[in-house]
Amino acid sequence: MGYDFHTDDAQADNGTFCKYILEQGIERIRGEQQMADIAIIYQSVHHGNTKKVVEKIQEALDVDLYPVTQIETTDFSKYKGIGFASGIYMSKMHPSLFDFLKKENKLPRQAFILYTSGSGGKNYAKKYVETLKKKGIETVGVFECRGYDTYGPLKWIGGIAKNHPDEKDLKRAIEFIEDMKEKLC
Ligand SMILES: Cc1cc2nc3c(=O)[nH]c(=O)nc-3n(C[C@H](O)[C@H](O)[C@H](O)COP(=O)(O)O)c2cc1C
Repeated sequence: MGYDFHTDDAQADNGTFCKYILEQGIERIRGEQQMADIAIIYQSVHHGNTKKVVEKIQEALDVDLYPVTQIETTDFSKYKGIGFASGIYMSKMHPSLFDFLKKENKLPRQAFILYTSGSGGKNYAKKYVETLKKKGIETVGVFECRGYDTYGPLKWIGGIAKNHPDEKDLKRAIEFIEDMKEKLC
């Protein structure tokens, strides 16, 4: 006894299958295009310390990450808030982040700052907070941690903040973003 196969059955099955594939595809595209409520723009040129922090945040939480050098046209004003992350170079955030602020106008009204520095503990975000303020953007929070630093003569002594950012720093950074998600409105 053979299986009684009808062309009509095959067509009906095919139709259902195609519909299913189409629906799955649409769902997938929708999912991929859904944006997070927070964007983080970053620059990390020395040892990738800042990149390590923001990538860890992205692993744990729903955030959209943008390397500042790879941004084309994006309307950031759709985000609830925007974060700026950078190493500290000569006591300031990286110049590319200042340039970004100069040319970009489609921004949310609230921001936060995250930075890594060799020394730690200083108010290195001050200038950037001021620049944001001039653009009418409020800084809701600042996170900082130390980052491995071999700049200039420091390399002769093997650098400072050797194991940073460490696990504790990364955990704190994630908690900071969780807090930002609550504070941004
Ligand atoms: C050119 C240069 C200048 C730096 N200036 C400072 C500074 O003024 N204060 C400080 O604490 N660290 C300073 N550092 C150390 C970096 O801020 C630190 O290593 C940071 O974690 C680098 O981040 P990144 O690896 O994401 O670029 C400097 C590093 C470089 C390469």
